[in-house]
Amino acid sequence: MSLKDQINTSQLPKHIAIIMDGNGRWAKQHGQHRVFGHRNGVTAVRESAEAAAELGIDYLTLYAFSTENWNRPRMEVNALMQLLLQTINNEITTLNKNNIRLNAIGDLDSLPAVNRKHLLKAIDATRNNTRMTLTLALSYSSRWEIVQAAKKLADKIIRGECTPEMVDQQCIEGLLTTDGMPDPELLIRTSGEFRISNFMLWQIAYAELYFTQTLWPDFRKEDLYAAIVDFQHRERRFGKTSEQITKVNDQQ
Ligand code: IPE
Ligand code: IPE
Ligand code: MG
Repeated sequence: MSLKDQINTSQLPKHIAIIMDGNGRWAKQHGQHRVFGHRNGVTAVRESAEAAAELGIDYLTLYAFSTENWNRPRMEVNALMQLLLQTINNEITTLNKNNIRLNAIGDLDSLPAVNRKHLLKAIDATRNNTRMTLTLALSYSSRWEIVQAAKKLADKIIRGECTPEMVDQQCIEGLLTTDGMPDPELLIRTSGEFRISNFMLWQIAYAELYFTQTLWPDFRKEDLYAAIVDFQHRERRFGKTSEQITKVNDQQ
């Protein structure tokens, strides 16, 4: 049976997030500059978005550029921004054809003005699409997100819209950039690194983590299927015992 056939489509994660890593090492393996790896990573973005949409995943979130990535050599940062701009503009038609809505989270104000402009244009051009939401995390980090949420909360309290007693998890969630999105149930990281690198720390509280050695530019539909099959073999207990979970499943 193919990997795709092994997927139970009635038990799909609603939200998959991916830390796309390994472009630089992929380029090095090919005797090329790091930017060559980033360019080839675009195919993997296309493949994973297409595979996720075809399966019926509601949300796919891709970590494309972290707050910390601004510290890379200027030449690489510029090339990444240029590639981002080019990709956004090239993909609008495909996104619309596939009924995919584009979204972005992160400190978008820190992006070059031209990137921000075209990004917002693409988000607007795809806003009525309903099949899947593709979110790009750009100039994003979880700690940045939490700090801006804390500022918004302080502001609300000062304005009298909220009291400290009213603060609960729902209230915090509403202040995060992912407001309105379900938490990712599956988080994938490519390239054999076993870390989170400041990504969605609040939202992945109960996500299943999947690490693969595959370098991002080599990531294809089959790799996404493999991650989902693995996910579907996990027992998600949310603090309960295995017996409690099995009993509930038996009753269904
Ligand atoms: C991921 O690949 C892309 C970004 C972080 C922008 P890397 O560029 O981190 O590739 P490696 O980890 O150096 O191989
Ligand atoms: C994480 O990858 C950020 C993105 C995938 C955009 P990095 O390659 O920047 O992470 P570290 O520095 O190895 O943790
Ligand atoms: Mg890396």
